[in-house]
Formats: sequence, structure tokens, C-alpha cells
Amino acid sequence: MTTGRVLCALALAAAPVLCVVVLAVAGWIGLGPALAVAAASIAGGAVAVKLWARDLQWLETALRHAAAGDTAALARDAAAPMLPGAGRIAVGIERLARTLAARGEELTALSRASEAIVERLPDPLIVLGPQREVRRANAAAREAFGTEMAAVLRHPVLREAIERAWRGGETQVAEIRLPVPNEREVAATVLPFDPPLADGGRAILVLSDRSRERTLERMRADFVANASHELRTPLTSLMGFVETLRGPAMDDRQAQERFLGIMAEQAQRMANLIDDLLSLSRIEMNERQAPSEVVDLAALAERVAAGFEPRLAERAMRLELTAPGGTKVLGDADQLAQVLQNLVDNAVKYGREGGLVRISVQPVDGPPWPARPGAVMAVTDDGPGIPRVHLARLTERFYRVDKGRSRAAGGTGLGLAIVKHIVNRHRGQLLIDSEEGKGSTFSVWLPAPEAKAP
Ligand SMILES: Nc1ncnc2c1ncn2[C@@H]1O[C@H](COP(=O)(O)OP(=O)(O)OP(=O)(O)O)[C@@H](O)[C@H]1O
Ligand SMILES: [Mg+2]
Repeated sequence: MTTGRVLCALALAAAPVLCVVVLAVAGWIGLGPALAVAAASIAGGAVAVKLWARDLQWLETALRHAAAGDTAALARDAAAPMLPGAGRIAVGIERLARTLAARGEELTALSRASEAIVERLPDPLIVLGPQREVRRANAAAREAFGTEMAAVLRHPVLREAIERAWRGGETQVAEIRLPVPNEREVAATVLPFDPPLADGGRAILVLSDRSRERTLERMRADFVANASHELRTPLTSLMGFVETLRGPAMDDRQAQERFLGIMAEQAQRMANLIDDLLSLSRIEMNERQAPSEVVDLAALAERVAAGFEPRLAERAMRLELTAPGGTKVLGDADQLAQVLQNLVDNAVKYGREGGLVRISVQPVDGPPWPARPGAVMAVTDDGPGIPRVHLARLTERFYRVDKGRSRAAGGTGLGLAIVKHIVNRHRGQLLIDSEEGKGSTFSVWLPAPEAKAP
């Protein structure tokens, strides 16, 4: 027994021992009984102290288990306390431990859920620590920036936004252009946290890729500028001739005839441009819906070729058509006729005077191009060809290799853009092959009707 316990036992026994000593001194009780009562009091005090110590020990252990959330150990060590009141404290501790454990489980589940949400967010999200260091990055951020994360954070505009957020404690937004790992435009949002997040994070950085939207915005702006420019040129010319006809050429019959001819040409050019724009927007509108008719490409090619006879004759060109009957594809007959028409139109317009234009339609089984069965419709000319640098941009709206020549031939620069959109709608592929000085081949692959089956 420790000194503390001995002292406690003596303190408990002090009052009864003092009483019997007084009684014995006064002679009211004999020495023998007085000693027996004193000894019994000290022994009773020792037992009470032992029980007390044992219960306190139990409570201490129970509190330790409760703090550690170990309800199983709490139940295992449940030797019920014996002193009055200690039992109630024991029940309270057990209840508290159970509540704490349940809260702990709830918190773990909640934090797991929020981690899963952050991890799966489609936008890259980075948690910054107190030194602006990367504390955590979700899957999108790891995929988008990989090992370049630190380099991204060094971007001066982004750093400035982070510093502003740190100083002012308010959300900051910045538009940045990132050169690594590949060029893209990103909208960065910095959300500072004070007090910090549970994991010590001081700010969240959301980096949303806006490249697609920005490209679309630029394309839309370019498109409006290009379309207006294309319409303004013939319109200005028309207005000039109207002025001339009203003034200097008012009485000149011959000049009037000539000017009216040019005006009709310009008006026709505007009409062609508007027709092409309308047709492009119609194709774009139903581009998501793949066509489902079965089209006989050979018959279609014969029809289109026949329509070009007068224009071929104008340029002393020959046309050779190879189209085995019964070559069928899945498509929209009018749109496929338009594809062939635009390709042959280019071959006639830009091909060699007195040259040869070849149209070929043939079924293909698969590899090398492309991997599935279908048919390829190709138009080849033996003209000047197209320099390689232009090939990738040829199907952009209003893109022309030789602007002057295209305009002089009445071109609007939309023919191949229309071809590309129709081919896209057909889930087909367009391949442009050209060699300067030798000629060009435009091939369109279209899926076979069986491809529709599933
Ligand atoms: N077979 C070809 N040979 C040489 N250059 C070509 C050929 N086909 C197209 N090009 C070049 O590609 C450019 C774009 O062709 P596209 O058909 O889109 O427009 P366009 O012929 O100028 O006008 P549109 O077809 O609207 O009347 C042309 O301006 C021309 O410079
Ligand atoms: Mg064209």
C-alpha cells in the first residue's frame, strides 16, 4: 500500500479512533474493547481506500478507452465500480464513448465522401498548403498537369492571383494561357480558407480548361468577320456600278450593257455565298443525326458527272468515271451528291486546262484505310496541286490557297467546309492527297450499309 493510501486510511479512521481514545481515557470503556474498535476502524478505512482506488483506476482506464474510441475494450473491462456514484459515472463514460465512436464513424464517412467528390470532379482541383505548396491534387489535375504542376503554379498571372487571395482573403479569378504540358487556355479560381481546411489546406485552386470555348468564340467571331467581308466586296462593287450608271454612264448604252453584266455576276456571287452559308448551317444542324438511307454511289456519280459536261467542255477537260454498279453506302443521297459536286467543281476550277479529271467509286473491305468495310469515292485532277502547308486548313470556312484565283472563279471558300461537315455527319472520313505540280486527290470513305445493323 502506498503512503498516500495509508494516510487516507488513517484519515478515515481518525474520527472513530479519537472517540474510543477519549472514551477509554474517561474510563467509559475498557482498553481491550477500545483497541479492538480502533483496529477495526483502521481496517475499515483501509478497505474503503482500496475500493476507492480500484474504482478510480477503473474510471481512469475507462476514460482512456473512451478517448481512444475503443468501445470493445470498455465493454471487456467492465468490472462494475462498487462505490456509490461511481457506477453512474461508469455508465456515463460508456455512453459517451459510444456516442464519440458513432460521431467518429460519421466524420470518417463524411470526409471519405467529400474526398471522393473532390477526386472525381471533372475540373482540375489543387489544395495549397500554408507555403503555397501543393498539398493535394485530384485525378483531373494529376491527369492534366502531371509532373508540370509546380511549373503551372509558377505562372506569373496565377501567382499574382494566389497572392491576392492570400492577402485579401477573397476569391480571385484569372485567365491564363498555359504552355505546358500542351498549350491551353485556363480559367483559374483561387478560393482562400481562413481558418484552414481540416487537412491544413489554405486555398483551393480550380483550373478549368477553356480552350474549346475560346476556340469556338474565336471561330464564331472570325466567321462573322469573314462572311461580312465576303458579302461586302460584291456589294461595294454593285453600289459603285449603280452610282456609275446613274451618273457618268447614264447615256452610254454600251457601258450600261457591260456594267449590268458585271452587276449580275456580283449579285450571283452574293446569292451563291448565301446559298452556301445556308446549306452549311443546315448540315451543321443535323450533323449529330447520322443518315440511314442506302445510297447507290455508282448511280449518283454518273448523275453528277453528266451535269459537268458543259463546264468540262469550256476548259477542254476530259472526265473519266470508274464506278462499278451496286456500290452502296449508308447516307443521304442529296448530301453525297453535293460532296461529289463540290469536289468535281474544284477539280474543274483548279485543274489543268485541257487536263483530266477522274472520278472513282469503289467498295473497300477494310485496312489500310479505313479499318471498316465501306466505299471510297475519289476525285483526282492533274492540276497544279496544293502546297503541303495548306492541306490541314483546307476544310476551314473561307480558307483558300490562292484567294485571287478562287474569287475569279466565283469561289466562296466554303465548298470543302461543306464537304467536311457532310462527311462528319455520315461518320465517314476525308483524305486529301496532293503533290505540287502533279495534281490532287480528294477521297471520301463512307460506311457500308451493314454498319447500320446494331
Ligand atoms: N483540286 C484542287 N486543286 C488545287 N487547289 C484546290 C483544289 N481544291 C481546292 N483547292 C484550294 O482549296 C481552296 C478551298 O476550296 P473550297 O472548295 O473550300 O473553296 P472554293 O473552291 O474557293 O470556293 P467554293 O467551293 O465555295 O466555290 C480553294 O480556294 C483552292 O485554293
Ligand atoms: Mg470549291
